[in-house]
Amino acid sequence: MIEQVKGTQNIYQNDSEKYLHVRKCFFDVFNKSGYSYIQTPHLEHSELFEKSIGENSEIVSKQMYQFNDKGGRTLVLRPEGTSSIVRYHAQNQKELTNQYSYFGQMFRYENPQKNRYREFTQGGVEIIGNLDAFSDFQVINDSIRFLNSLNLTFTLEINTIGSIDDRELYSKELYTYFKTHENDLSDESREKLDLNTLRILDSNNSLDSNVIKHAPVISNFINDISSQKYESLKSLLNNSNIKFKENTRLVRGLDYYNDLTFEFINNDGVVLGGGGRYDRLAEILNIGTFNGVGVAFGIERIMNIIDIKNKSPKVYIIGTDIDKIAQLCILLDKNDIDYSKPPRLSKINSQFKSAKNLGAKYVVNADEDTIKDLENNTSVEFNVEVLIEN
Ligand code: HAM
Repeated sequence: MIEQVKGTQNIYQNDSEKYLHVRKCFFDVFNKSGYSYIQTPHLEHSELFEKSIGENSEIVSKQMYQFNDKGGRTLVLRPEGTSSIVRYHAQNQKELTNQYSYFGQMFRYENPQKNRYREFTQGGVEIIGNLDAFSDFQVINDSIRFLNSLNLTFTLEINTIGSIDDRELYSKELYTYFKTHENDLSDESREKLDLNTLRILDSNNSLDSNVIKHAPVISNFINDISSQKYESLKSLLNNSNIKFKENTRLVRGLDYYNDLTFEFINNDGVVLGGGGRYDRLAEILNIGTFNGVGVAFGIERIMNIIDIKNKSPKVYIIGTDIDKIAQLCILLDKNDIDYSKPPRLSKINSQFKSAKNLGAKYVVNADEDTIKDLENNTSVEFNVEVLIEN
């Protein structure tokens, strides 16, 4: 038997109901409030992410599915969606300010475990172009509406990481601090010291926690304009009764952010989604000077915490006479009645059992020309009006 690739998933039955439900809620919220769906390729040139997310980031240095195609191009299976949409915007929509939504698979070579997969789904939105504070507000507010539509409990954490220059200065300061405490750090964090200092702040290793606790915080390195923007966002959120928690350690793992960063975290500490501003990304990629803000949610992480009931079919048709059952299908199709049916004409009792197991309300028996109401346990002669009326 050929094994399934590690870290990938098959989504079926109850999981697929959940997947489709989350996707429906996602588009119901975002696409009904101005975002337009975009689908970008799963394959991109490596260079895109090396430049955007950053060569030294965990994603680019360790997690990319990278290969040379038969034409000798160095390609990757996309690890995230933002960079591709920025590329698309620069190529086709440069003069406009657009609201994009996307929903699809991403690939990261991570250590597979619950909530962390090698192939996973992100649902996200990006606003790209000439932005203002309302752009930040709506991404956060619409995200909350999305999570609320799924009845989820979560905390919104926010931070400002200032300009890219502020972050560089902070990173240097942090490096000096961690270097002097190098011997107290875990091996894993020591490895990150030279190339990925900021990521040490994400460590959950108890050996690191004391050193991290006393490390310099980014808030002391933020320029005045960025601080003012952050203060205005906080008062806007307060005035809008949007609850949030400030987390000065929320720097996120992708290099393209400036100013606002935020995450939605559930009660068990699972990060359901995160995002922020990326005003310099187009410049870094050398494709324009426009701004961006966005968020992406981990769809499997959401599926893992929601509970939904399987939908039962209202009408299930059964029969053993192929002509009769085919005619019945055609009649119900003409009347626009949704119905389920067996995959093949097995014994009538086993078809009836399937209808019952699925929780159907009406079983239409094509052999007997009857409709059985399984809720009331009554049978009537077949009449399409019964199905239309109910
Ligand atoms: P990210 O934080 O890398 O951001 O990923 C966003 C979300 O995707 C995470 O919060 C998590 O829920 C989910 N996720 C990430 N990796 C995995 C994994 N291996 N398995 C399952 N779920 C995962 C970005 O990707 C940015 N592009 C977000 C963004 C959009 N920023 C601005 N616009």
